[in-house]
Amino acid sequence: MHPLLLPELLGLISGYLSLKEQQRCIQVCWTWNGHFAPLVWKTCTVDYERHTKQSPIPTSALHTYAQHIRVLIFRGFVSADHFTIPCTRLETLKVVDGSSVDFKGFGADIADEVWASLARIVETNPGLTTVEIAEIDRTPMAVFWKAVADHPGIRALRFDQVRVDDEHLKDFWKACSGANVLTLQRCRIGNGSSNDSADVLPTNFRRLQELNIENLLKPLPHTQIELLRYCPQLSSFYWRGGVIHGLARDPLLSILGSGRLPNLDSMDIVGMNLTDLDTEHIVQCMSRVRKLAVYQTNFGPSSLRSLKPHFKSIEELNLLQCPLVTSANIALLLRSCPLLRVFKAEAIVSDDIKDGEVWPCYEHLDTLVLYFDLTLTDHIADCQRTYSLLSKLKALRRLNISRYVTPQGRPIIGDPKNGLQLRLDHGLGQLETLRHLTTLNFDKLPQDMTLADAHWMEEHWKALRVVQGNFNAKNLVLNREIRSFFKDTFSGHVPLPPSH
Ligand SMILES: *[C@@H]1O[C@H](CO)[C@@H](O)[C@H](O)[C@H]1NC(C)=O
Ligand SMILES: *[C@@H]1O[C@H](CO)[C@@H](O)[C@H](O)[C@H]1NC(C)=O
Ligand SMILES: *[C@@H]1O[C@H](CO)[C@@H](O)[C@H](O)[C@H]1NC(C)=O
Ligand SMILES: *[C@@H]1O[C@H](CO)[C@@H](O)[C@H](O)[C@H]1NC(C)=O
Repeated sequence: MHPLLLPELLGLISGYLSLKEQQRCIQVCWTWNGHFAPLVWKTCTVDYERHTKQSPIPTSALHTYAQHIRVLIFRGFVSADHFTIPCTRLETLKVVDGSSVDFKGFGADIADEVWASLARIVETNPGLTTVEIAEIDRTPMAVFWKAVADHPGIRALRFDQVRVDDEHLKDFWKACSGANVLTLQRCRIGNGSSNDSADVLPTNFRRLQELNIENLLKPLPHTQIELLRYCPQLSSFYWRGGVIHGLARDPLLSILGSGRLPNLDSMDIVGMNLTDLDTEHIVQCMSRVRKLAVYQTNFGPSSLRSLKPHFKSIEELNLLQCPLVTSANIALLLRSCPLLRVFKAEAIVSDDIKDGEVWPCYEHLDTLVLYFDLTLTDHIADCQRTYSLLSKLKALRRLNISRYVTPQGRPIIGDPKNGLQLRLDHGLGQLETLRHLTTLNFDKLPQDMTLADAHWMEEHWKALRVVQGNFNAKNLVLNREIRSFFKDTFSGHVPLPPSH
């Protein structure tokens, strides 16, 4: 047999080929067709690009290769017969109508036909686990919601900018009630003058473990929070309210206090109005804390005390823009939480970093967002000491050393002094141990980098893909040179073959 027909070799080769190249390989011979067709057709996007006027994939090709499709994406209006694909091995179905973003959506005349076809796709794909619907201005038909509700395998549902009218509310919530993961973003659920009341909710989201709510136009936050009453298995709650609405504090504290959510171990909320005692109460209601993100709250000394029993198990902490969190608090947390994977907070001062210190999370910490507030008098020594500490974090992939400043230009705590300088003559070279670093952010923290520093980064951080910030605030020409160096470097990277 010719070596280029060996499945092992084809497997190796395909890891290095782009989708376009794989598409060409399909036409080489039957063996290659058999190998590459499942790869090329695994993810299939049926769309109509308004701007390039490219026609969508012909329906004949969809019928021929339907059995290979695992991820099927419809985008914008394509003719109704594109929705009758005979695939049976789908895992993910995604539909983006686009009418709400001025993209030609499903016309009123064929919308019913389209949703009926989509319902059939749901019914005929027992392996379907994920359904995503986005930018739907006209409420999907009951037949579609029923198909989703009756499918026993769907675990994840995501709705983004979907509108659900009153007459479909019951079907919609019923469809949601079987999911393990439910994500609702920018939707308008309910259109009437109705009370926004909870009577349209099913009695139980019996399997729901993860609920993500972001900027819903309707129902109002109070009712959004009421959903929590019906999720006995919930372990993770994420909430964002958008510019108009604040967090509905009272129902949140009352539901948490009622003991209805015994498995809740991850909270990710934003709430200017939560006091230290409120966040203390939230932590006290969690029997285990894996993740606590209480962005823009008044998390303070009481909350910190209530978190103490969880120091050994906590994996993710976000205390960004919490004005009561001090540098000493941050130092305490970083010294006490051995399993931290993600840590985000405002600022730590150099006095809170000891010589030769090693944080116990050094084997796990993947993401660090923290401004290092160094003294001006001994700036280089402070930089070196900080780099020595950071050099121990060998799992680190994302590092953001910039700090938030209010629109008035003030940081949220402390004085603006001087942050880390990314320079070899300030000890940057110690960070050659950060072999997994992919992202480095230093927005609004002007640097004085040279090309040698940039070359060093490129040479020692092989995983690096994003460097973001002002490279040299004093020398615009040099700044531009470094920027174009990184641009060339990253666009020239050969994509890594899949690791498995
Ligand atoms: C809600 O939407 C439906 C269908 O579009 C419409 O018939 C109904 O009048 C709307 N209700 C209100 C109160 O706007
Ligand atoms: C709204 O709900 C309350 C009770 O939840 C009820 O007393 C009231 O009549 C309802 N109003 C409307 C307009 O349906
Ligand atoms: C926070 O509370 C104050 C006073 O209680 C209120 O005026 C403000 O609108 C609230 N903000 C949010 C985001 O809820
Ligand atoms: C880095 O952190 C700062 C301060 O918290 C934040 O304002 C900025 O958005 C972050 N940058 C990125 C790319 O996440």
